[in-house]
Amino acid sequence: MSIGLALCVGLPALAQDEEADNVTAAYEENGRYFTEDDIPTFNVAEDGTVDWLTFSGFRRYHAECHVCHGPDGEGSSYAPALKNSAVDMDYYDFVDVVVNGRQNVNASSNQVMPSFGDNPNVMCYLDDIYVYLKAHGTGAIGRGRPAQKEAKSDTIQEDENACMGS
Ligand code: HEC
Repeated sequence: MSIGLALCVGLPALAQDEEADNVTAAYEENGRYFTEDDIPTFNVAEDGTVDWLTFSGFRRYHAECHVCHGPDGEGSSYAPALKNSAVDMDYYDFVDVVVNGRQNVNASSNQVMPSFGDNPNVMCYLDDIYVYLKAHGTGAIGRGRPAQKEAKSDTIQEDENACMGS
């Protein structure tokens, strides 16, 4: 009796957890968008206007990551397609790889993902890059520079100044 009850109560919660939506914006805060689990995410309006982070992330990605990971996060013979990684990987795992780097050494390959933990041009824009890649990986935006963007909020500007130490 008590086991049956536990199952009835427990299963729906489990199912919900497994389907936790890593993509859909649940709320906006000072120009940044988040899922219901407080994970940074993108927002694309019906007319195609993207949130500031997605636009900024496009530029930052192409300044710091595309030499290895290919234009638009599409991947290369050397490094994986980050547009898929941003969708498939846990946010904190994604951040961890960028901060600490990763090395995949075996008989057939010797690929190195550098650590960017000391690079403010990456660390101060890590959410931007992640959010942009997720927007492209889900197909919410296509390849290339997003044409229309939201204005940069005062909060985002202040956070950037503090992070860059200016
Ligand atoms: C010098 C080349 C190089 C640069 C520059 C580079 N990466 Fe990588 N990255 C790699 C390689 C190679 C791997 C695969 C490493 C492995 O398999 O262990 C990788 C793996 C990753 C992964 C794990 C992907 C997955 O699906 O497991 C993430 C996330 C990542 N890189 C993010 C970034 C971001 C963000 C930038 C720009 C700030 C960046 N990388 C710049 C070479 C690079």
